[in-house]
Amino acid sequence: MREEDEWDGGVLGELAPEWADRVVFFEECGSTNDEAMRLGRLGADHFTLVLTERQVAGRGRRGSGWVSPLGEAIACSLILKPEVDSVLWSRFALSAGLAVAEGLESFGVSTEVKWPNDVLVRGKKICGILVEKRDDLVVIGIGVNVNVREFPEELNGVASSLLLESGKRWRREEVLAKILVKLKMRAGQVGGEFEQVKIAWEERCALRGEMVEMRVGGELKSGVVLGLSSGGGLLLEGGEEIIQADLVRRC
Ligand code: BTN
Repeated sequence: MREEDEWDGGVLGELAPEWADRVVFFEECGSTNDEAMRLGRLGADHFTLVLTERQVAGRGRRGSGWVSPLGEAIACSLILKPEVDSVLWSRFALSAGLAVAEGLESFGVSTEVKWPNDVLVRGKKICGILVEKRDDLVVIGIGVNVNVREFPEELNGVASSLLLESGKRWRREEVLAKILVKLKMRAGQVGGEFEQVKIAWEERCALRGEMVEMRVGGELKSGVVLGLSSGGGLLLEGGEEIIQADLVRRC
């Protein structure tokens, strides 16, 4: 790892001053989501960010793993102690995906969001988000491929990075600072202002107007995507609302 690739908390403080004393940094940890859950339960404040350089047991959705190449990626988790009713908590995943998409747009790439919370550039995944909830806590885990140069063969054509899409290396502090500003705003809109999230999300919706199929429970479902329902589900033509699904893809 080159020196310029190391996290510099001081720089993050300069770039996003209000976050300076809200970041808990671990040189190494298993999963930032686990650390965030642990710290949240121990009393860490709302909007504390857990950030690591080496995440050695990163977790993805549906029980998969998540690899954050050393010095090239962002792996962090935001602790929330929301005041909004827990029936609205699924909206946090959408706000987080939107915030990352908007943050990355500052670096000259055109982003899309794929329900529920993937962020894509030219159809390839550049960020994964894992939202977990327990008692009064929500943890938003974010993994961004910033300066990743290569992916394992099985991710070819599926994953990408800001470096590969923009042709430039970026300072991770700068990328994280842009995302945090958007995240603070969008996470604050999951209550009465959710319509604003919905509009901005739908503008970037990768599958809007397309016929998609997905696995809902044990069943395969298909339909044309209209956008988001007011509850944050995927709205299909005919008015059907999908609350939870796996493997959403074009068909
Ligand atoms: C996905 O499967 O798309 C979600 C990936 C989420 C990865 C991030 S990296 C930071 C945080 N800690 C984890 O263990 N996972 C999330």
